[in-house]
Amino acid sequence: MLIRTTTQEDGASLWDLVKVTGTLELNTSYCYALMSKLFSQTCLVAECDGQLAGFVMAFQPPEQEDTIFVWQVGVHPAYRGQGLATRLIKALFEANPEKTYLEASVTPSNAASLALFRGYARRNKTQCEEGTFLPSHCFPKQHEEEKLLRVGPLQRQPALVGGR
Ligand SMILES: CC(C)(COP(=O)(O)OP(=O)(O)OC[C@H]1O[C@@H](n2cnc3c(N)ncnc32)[C@H](O)[C@@H]1OP(=O)(O)O)[C@@H](O)C(=O)NCCC(=O)NCCS
Repeated sequence: MLIRTTTQEDGASLWDLVKVTGTLELNTSYCYALMSKLFSQTCLVAECDGQLAGFVMAFQPPEQEDTIFVWQVGVHPAYRGQGLATRLIKALFEANPEKTYLEASVTPSNAASLALFRGYARRNKTQCEEGTFLPSHCFPKQHEEEKLLRVGPLQRQPALVGGR
């Protein structure tokens, strides 16, 4: 499994992968290309035999220089339950060693996503604070609230991401 930062060429494959994850809200192909191109330092993909097996798309929120906000993380169903999402999050902090907090918004019914971020906090022996990110009335159609999970402080990681 190769974990690497994205390029603009990954947008189309990411769009295809999100379609098969089942849970994630599918955004436009432009959105995935945009994130892959402009936020490549905080967007990673995992490749197996030239195919995308998983990804994490994230960015630094304005005025939160110590934080990475995870927008979407997904693993192809064939690769789930093997620690790949956890490896992607770890690699994200290896690629951004100055960041010490992770934030993510998660719907309360997404047990796998909650377990991923709570587990990451536990593995790193740090806190996972939970609150509200976006209440349900912020959405135009029926939508669960988006909880905010804030994990940290995290130990600075040695920079390892790239060809592995
Ligand atoms: C969430 C997701 C990325 C996890 O990927 P993964 O590679 O299977 O995760 P990992 O193997 O690293 O497991 C991380 C933790 O989640 C737990 N977990 C994984 N799948 C789970 C499930 N379906 N239900 C409950 N817990 C689950 C694991 O046991 C592990 O917990 P631990 O740290 O306590 O041992 C994957 O299920 C997925 O792509 N889901 C659809 C997209 C999505 O909902 N993304 C999150 C919102 S942005």
